[in-house]
Amino acid sequence: MTQLKNDTFLRALLKEPVEYTPIWMMRQAGRYLPEYRATRARAGSFMGLCTSPDYATEVTLQPLERFPLDAAILFSDILTVPDAMGLGLYFAEGEGPKFQRPLRDETAIRALVPAELDKLRYVFDAVASIRQALDGRVPLIGFSGSPFTLACYMVEGGGSDDFRHVKAMLYSRPELLHHILEMNTQSVIAYLNAQIDAGAQAVQIFDTWGGALSHAAYREFSLAYMQRIVAGLKREADGRRVPVIVFTKGGGQWLEDIAAIGADCVGLDWTTDIGQARARVGAKVALQGNFDPNALFAEPAAIEREVARILAGYGQGSGHVFNLGHGISQFADPAHAGALVDAVHRLSRRYHCD
Ligand code: CP3
Repeated sequence: MTQLKNDTFLRALLKEPVEYTPIWMMRQAGRYLPEYRATRARAGSFMGLCTSPDYATEVTLQPLERFPLDAAILFSDILTVPDAMGLGLYFAEGEGPKFQRPLRDETAIRALVPAELDKLRYVFDAVASIRQALDGRVPLIGFSGSPFTLACYMVEGGGSDDFRHVKAMLYSRPELLHHILEMNTQSVIAYLNAQIDAGAQAVQIFDTWGGALSHAAYREFSLAYMQRIVAGLKREADGRRVPVIVFTKGGGQWLEDIAAIGADCVGLDWTTDIGQARARVGAKVALQGNFDPNALFAEPAAIEREVARILAGYGQGSGHVFNLGHGISQFADPAHAGALVDAVHRLSRRYHCD
């Protein structure tokens, strides 16, 4: 395997010394880039991009051609796993993801079994193809959804603003939700390990909807299953540690608990003070994120001020991977994303000269 030319991201995740704070952006390959929209039009659809290793490689590399980002992220989607479990994923134009067969009755839930990895072969082929195309430029991140976040889409049948079906199940028939979460957990462990085998050099678990749970329910229905995933992952490949990042959007109040499940890094949204977060958990884990994605709508000078504030809040030394607190908006100006990357690289050097 080719030697990494820029391993700043991997070193920051392990809190090893770095020269500057590395940055990547959640959803960095996406609709805000005109070249992404052009490739998607050629592929015919979003799933056309995901299922073709050549297209997936092309769009993964697009943001890296524009900006000096410190990591690439596999182009795919978290919902490929429930699709492989037989739920029938489709994207209705302008409506986001949907499932043909959402899990609403006990018979369907009891019949659920872990995903067959063979149905996800296109993802592992994409990982191998992207690794080859990167040629050691920067590390490649693999990912999956958390069992609870996947269950939200599987039970609701698509996006939701109140999670009425999954919450009804959680409170009335918790054993049914636990069965779904168990099947998701087994699927995710095998899925992420296969991504690592194919060449992913770090992995992130997206718990986008864990923050919608009550204090007690978060531990029982989301965190406990992520802990099992972390314990089941391969942590070394090619003689190097494969760091794990756990990101619960809205999880700022539970940082100590999240930091205790064995991951290397905890993702922050923008509602938590990063200095306080570091004081609470910085001895245990690295931190990622904290920039309000909608601050990218402001002018570059304001973006730079916000970067300076977050870098000063984290303070001296390694252990911070700069990122947005959630995915970049499709309406963001690519030039503003460029200003963000530049500001992070330029302003962070003073925090890394020991
Ligand atoms: O970060 C990256 O660049 C890698 C690619 C990536 C996508 N989705 C591509 C995508 C990743 C890591 C995801 C994760 C994902 N997908 C999550 C967790 C993170 C988060 O954003 O909360 C979730 C909840 C999903 C499910 C999903 N997929 C939704 C809700 C949507 C619609 C989003 C929207 O803005 O309409 C998708 C589709 C999707 N996944 C797009 C992209 C680039 C847009 C599809 C398009 O091109 O039309």
